[in-house]
Amino acid sequence: MDLIKSIRKYFAPSFRAVITQVQQLIETLKIVILQVNNFQSFNIRKPNNVHTALKDGLKFAFLLFTLALISSCDYNRRTTGWQYFDDMVASPAYESYTPNPNFADGKTMQPPVPGTIPRGTVPYAYEKTEEDRALAAATLENPVVFDKKNLDRGKKMYGIYCMQCHGEKGDGQGSLYVSKKYTFPPASLLSEKMLANPEADIYHVITVGQGIMGEHGSMIRPADRWKIAMYVKEVLQN
Ligand code: HEC
Repeated sequence: MDLIKSIRKYFAPSFRAVITQVQQLIETLKIVILQVNNFQSFNIRKPNNVHTALKDGLKFAFLLFTLALISSCDYNRRTTGWQYFDDMVASPAYESYTPNPNFADGKTMQPPVPGTIPRGTVPYAYEKTEEDRALAAATLENPVVFDKKNLDRGKKMYGIYCMQCHGEKGDGQGSLYVSKKYTFPPASLLSEKMLANPEADIYHVITVGQGIMGEHGSMIRPADRWKIAMYVKEVLQN
């Protein structure tokens, strides 16, 4: 089994690649034969003047050069073949998903240092609990200005991320639920409770999720979350 494995590994770059290699080999052989013919013709002939000698010398040099070129061809894309000038052709760097002996966990790609946050992001201070939901609703304020452009953006994002469950009107009759592909009833965003809740409440639910609904904070930017909340409040609930 090991033998078969290693043979397969050797020929891994697919059958087509092998054919290409053979075609290349034939092409180079043609060149070699041509050169050898030239070489023979110069062997039989006596160099009768400096000019011919120079020409034949050049031919011989070209033959050597061709042979050197052929021998530097690689066998597959994972090896560099023989290199005459190898500076910076093959990168000694580890690739992201390869094992790495230099780190304790043996991985090349390292996780962020605990406690660090990506540049430009602000950590969300509230958890997926009822208390935090109420706290976020009472504390956070929508920084996005109320205008048609932002409402349109909110509508678009709602159409992408919410409508399939909560429905075009926000009544919870989204296509996923109506077609019974998603069986848990999505909450109506037009309920008495939701009519009373502020935009920040919707922002919170989008960010961390609610009950069975998953978080969307990792998919939707903060500004877009506010625009969705705005759209729900100002358009769907009116
Ligand atoms: C995969 C289906 C699904 C998607 C997509 C989805 N939701 Fe939900 N959502 C639900 C379900 C189901 C509930 C009820 C959760 C529960 O009660 O456990 C819910 C609950 C909510 C609630 C709380 C309602 C209440 O009465 O407390 C809000 C607000 C909400 N969703 C807004 C959104 C918004 C805005 C989006 C788009 C960014 C969205 N949801 C995307 C399924 C979904």
